[in-house]
Amino acid sequence: MLTSKFSSCSNIYTFILLFLLLNIISLCSSIILPTTLILPVTKDSSTLQYITVIGQRTPLIPVNFTVHLGGASLLVDCESGYNSSTYKPVLCESKQCSFAKAEYNACGSFCLSKPRPGCNNNTCHTLDGNPIIDTYTGVELAEDVLAIGSKPVVLVSQPKFIFTCIRSFIMTHLAKGVTGIAGFGHNSTISIPNQLASLDSKFTNKFGICLSSSTRSSGVIFIGSTPYYVYNPMIDISKNLVYTPLVKNTFTTSKFSEYHVKVSSIRIAGKNVPLNKTLLSIKQGLGGTRISTTTAFTILHTTIYDAVKTAFINALPKNVTIVEPPTKQFGLCFSSKNIRNTNVGPDVPVIDIVFHKKSAFWRIYGTNSVVQVNKDVMCLAFVGQDQTRAPSIEIGGYQLEENLLIFDLIEKKIGFSSSLKLQQTSCSKYEKTS
Ligand SMILES: *[C@@H]1O[C@H](CO)[C@@H](O)[C@H](O)[C@H]1NC(C)=O
Ligand SMILES: *[C@@H]1O[C@H](CO)[C@@H](O)[C@H](O)[C@H]1NC(C)=O
Ligand SMILES: *[C@@H]1O[C@H](CO)[C@@H](O)[C@H](O)[C@H]1NC(C)=O
Ligand SMILES: *[C@@H]1O[C@H](CO)[C@@H](O)[C@H](O)[C@H]1NC(C)=O
Ligand SMILES: *[C@@H]1O[C@H](CO)[C@@H](O)[C@H](O)[C@H]1NC(C)=O
Ligand SMILES: *[C@@H]1O[C@H](CO)[C@@H](O)[C@H](O)[C@H]1NC(C)=O
Repeated sequence: MLTSKFSSCSNIYTFILLFLLLNIISLCSSIILPTTLILPVTKDSSTLQYITVIGQRTPLIPVNFTVHLGGASLLVDCESGYNSSTYKPVLCESKQCSFAKAEYNACGSFCLSKPRPGCNNNTCHTLDGNPIIDTYTGVELAEDVLAIGSKPVVLVSQPKFIFTCIRSFIMTHLAKGVTGIAGFGHNSTISIPNQLASLDSKFTNKFGICLSSSTRSSGVIFIGSTPYYVYNPMIDISKNLVYTPLVKNTFTTSKFSEYHVKVSSIRIAGKNVPLNKTLLSIKQGLGGTRISTTTAFTILHTTIYDAVKTAFINALPKNVTIVEPPTKQFGLCFSSKNIRNTNVGPDVPVIDIVFHKKSAFWRIYGTNSVVQVNKDVMCLAFVGQDQTRAPSIEIGGYQLEENLLIFDLIEKKIGFSSSLKLQQTSCSKYEKTS
């Protein structure tokens, strides 16, 4: 049952002002439910994390969250400055505890300090954590008021939104001012899209991410049903996507909710890159391909990286000079002198990620495949790394930017758009200006 309220007043004009929401709701008479919620996302220039603002607590305050696509819950630092009169721990064996299908269904009755958010006796616990430092721990489940979205803002207050409460020391290496991790995972009832859909079926267990490549203008996460519009001109960017099935990884428990796809090959300038196919499937939780918003540049298993690098060099025009990488981060750099610019970025060989069948591929153009590191040098924006204990391919933020990805959690499939720049539009044009 839906008990969330929201306002469709046009006078909410900046998202940061959402703490004024309660006043605005009381001023508005028209209450219409949106079918699609808009969540602005900014890119932090120092950590390259994608940040969104969600209102929480009473009194309602804006809280900064790092977006974690495969996160199981809305994870909040409850130790530093969590102050709310509506915080309510989820009790052991309660309705909310069984709804959350808490991993291990652990009942915590051992908080030795005086009660505070994250530390109460007889409360429902689950396992969650910080993917950036790869650290997971038992966390207290709790409920509180939530205000999510921009123009309109949806207020979830009755019932309240279930989240997880964690100690501060786990929340390190997050961008400055961030005190939580917003999880959009598929295999968790309390992730943002699944929990909103359970509050109101209008939010159809579907969402789309469209990350901005700029640290100055926001991109967007659409939650709910398509169409997903950008403006000037108005285009439904959810059309003509290539879909591939979501692949389950049921081995590593804390990563149940991550998004995996089946990559069957990689093509560079139309030619297949020779790859060890064993690495492309998930075996006992390892290998395969994951999509990750907490990885800045796509990470490839070293042998895949070496093959991609060789194929990319071979496909570059002969008048492009390979140079010593000026930064340790990247393994292949070249002079940008003879490289033209196009509307989809530097004119370099296109990289196709081919999914479960040959006709389903996602094309990566220069704007997402190379990065200009200084005036004369650009580098292949992929990182080679020992991935023996991780997915063989982790598709990261730089490759996802200015593309729309749709995650359909009912049909269990993921849609990829080719660069929106081909349509002369961008992820930052989600706001209707007229
Ligand atoms: C918490 O909020 C209450 C009521 O709004 C206020 O009286 C109190 O000073 C706040 N405490 C802190 C530590 O901010
Ligand atoms: C939890 O229970 C223990 C043992 O009864 C008690 O010492 C502790 O103060 C309680 N903690 C809270 C947060 O209520
Ligand atoms: C959230 O991020 C914004 C923008 O970086 C910043 O101005 C604000 O202080 C942050 N909020 C907190 C509570 O740190
Ligand atoms: C998570 O995956 C398990 C195992 O495949 C499945 O039984 C369960 O229903 C899934 N939960 C959600 C919320 O998708
Ligand atoms: C392919 O990769 C697997 C897993 O790392 C490895 O066991 C196998 O030896 C590799 N095959 C070849 C031909 O290199
Ligand atoms: C570099 O080579 C490409 C492809 O062979 C050619 O189209 C381009 O004109 C050349 N550029 C210069 C500056 O010579």
